[in-house]
Amino acid sequence: MRIGILGTGALATSLGTAWVRAGHEVLVGGRSAERAAAAAAAMGGGDGRTDGGGTARAAATAAEAAAGRDAVLLAVSWAGVPDILRAAGADRGALAGTVLVDPVNAVDHGVGEHLLTDGRAAAEHIADLAPGARVVKAFHLLPAARWSAAGGPVTVPVAGDDEAALRTVAVLAGDAGGTAAVVGPLRRARQLEEAAGLVIGLVFAGYDPAAAVPHVPARGAARV
Ligand SMILES: NC(=O)c1ccc[n+]([C@@H]2O[C@H](COP(=O)([O-])OP(=O)(O)OC[C@H]3O[C@@H](n4cnc5c(N)ncnc54)[C@H](OP(=O)(O)O)[C@@H]3O)[C@@H](O)[C@H]2O)c1
Repeated sequence: MRIGILGTGALATSLGTAWVRAGHEVLVGGRSAERAAAAAAAMGGGDGRTDGGGTARAAATAAEAAAGRDAVLLAVSWAGVPDILRAAGADRGALAGTVLVDPVNAVDHGVGEHLLTDGRAAAEHIADLAPGARVVKAFHLLPAARWSAAGGPVTVPVAGDDEAALRTVAVLAGDAGGTAAVVGPLRRARQLEEAAGLVIGLVFAGYDPAAAVPHVPARGAARV
């Protein structure tokens, strides 16, 4: 798959590493071409080099990173979302039809409280900022390092309105070592975001979030 990544930080690098390893063609861009080059190099494919798997390459601009990709990961902090989407041309329809993967946690990181007081999901605001994009909430709940390091099985809760986009994200989750679990349409993303806020709040308060969730055996998974 041709994947664009907007953002050059921890999550961009970790998921990019997993996807390069799985054979995808990753193009990463942010507001700094230097940081994009460093992120591409850290993904293991170097800048354009292949390592038997996929490739990682740095884009000169966010617009280049997002243009003509099969899926675009929006890996920036909530405060940076409007800027990077504008830089990618999303307000002018540049992402129309593109699968836009949203892992953004719009929460107060010390407390875990959602920053948006209108009751809507950050994912829904992102959809407003990127007209026509097929937005899927995903990859927001687990720590970034999980994707580039080996680990046990993980579930990736996802929400979105477009069936084909959900299938694309299920492939991306599988290739990063997870199993996608569709919870429902994009309006359910608020619930997923609140869940991340709870996890973040517990971590900052010194509690293990995994110990706060009951272990209930699965009743047979519905896969996408
Ligand atoms: N880290 C995790 O464990 C984790 C897990 C799940 C979800 N997430 C979510 O994933 C997203 C990225 O997190 P991260 O950990 O990768 O953060 P990070 O390492 O701090 O990187 C943040 C990225 O956002 C960019 N950014 C910030 N403000 C911007 C602006 N105004 N315009 C353009 N770019 C801007 C930064 O660009 P510069 O380098 O130019 O500043 C950087 O590329 C966040 O929304 C976070 O909530 C993170």
